[in-house]
Amino acid sequence: MPHGYFITLEGVDGGGKTTQLERLAAALRERGLTVVTTREPGGTATAEQIRRVVLDKDLVMGARTELLLYLAARAEHVEHVIRPALAAGHVVLCDRFADSTLVYQGVVRGLPLDEVERLCRFAAEGVTPDRTILLDADPRALLARRADRQVEDRLEQEGLVFQEKVREGFLALWRRHGSRICRIDALRPADAVTRDILAALAGGDRFPRKDTNHV
Ligand code: TMP
Repeated sequence: MPHGYFITLEGVDGGGKTTQLERLAAALRERGLTVVTTREPGGTATAEQIRRVVLDKDLVMGARTELLLYLAARAEHVEHVIRPALAAGHVVLCDRFADSTLVYQGVVRGLPLDEVERLCRFAAEGVTPDRTILLDADPRALLARRADRQVEDRLEQEGLVFQEKVREGFLALWRRHGSRICRIDALRPADAVTRDILAALAGGDRFPRKDTNHV
């Protein structure tokens, strides 16, 4: 049975994940691969509704509620989008996944990491990324770069100290899972970042080669 290739993009808010996801998808499609792009929380109608609730600036919620909402969205997304695409042999490019949950709800909100890990596995039916690209940047530098941008959601309005904890959380995961997670310096021109991501992916064991969807 064909099994596709699952790539996730992670990092602090505003580090350029969405732009890089689009660029990466275009580059991989040019190489003849079938690519599905998606995001978390989101990716299905139900999960997008959950996204609206969990990111609503006007709502207050506890850390456990927040965790369970992200995981409810993930369960939908894995069942209806990610698992079927992988089963069909496609490349799936996802903007955030379980590493975000470990960092935001585990490390930063302070929920017990072993519990968060266990619940993540349950929600994702054990589906894990083949490779993860960590777009790493100092939140202070990002803030300066986009000083004119409005705060968009509940998590973004948490401020600089929160984002610095997020960055540290991701770096700790990168140190622990160095073979899966590849750290890329996001504070460079978009072209250079895309080039580094492609080079990092090409170095992976099972990365699909040109003109084939089967790996
Ligand atoms: P985005 O702005 O990158 O689309 O992500 C939405 C926000 O949700 C972002 O601040 C990170 C946060 N988040 C979590 O806290 N836990 C999760 O499991 C995921 C997927 C995202």
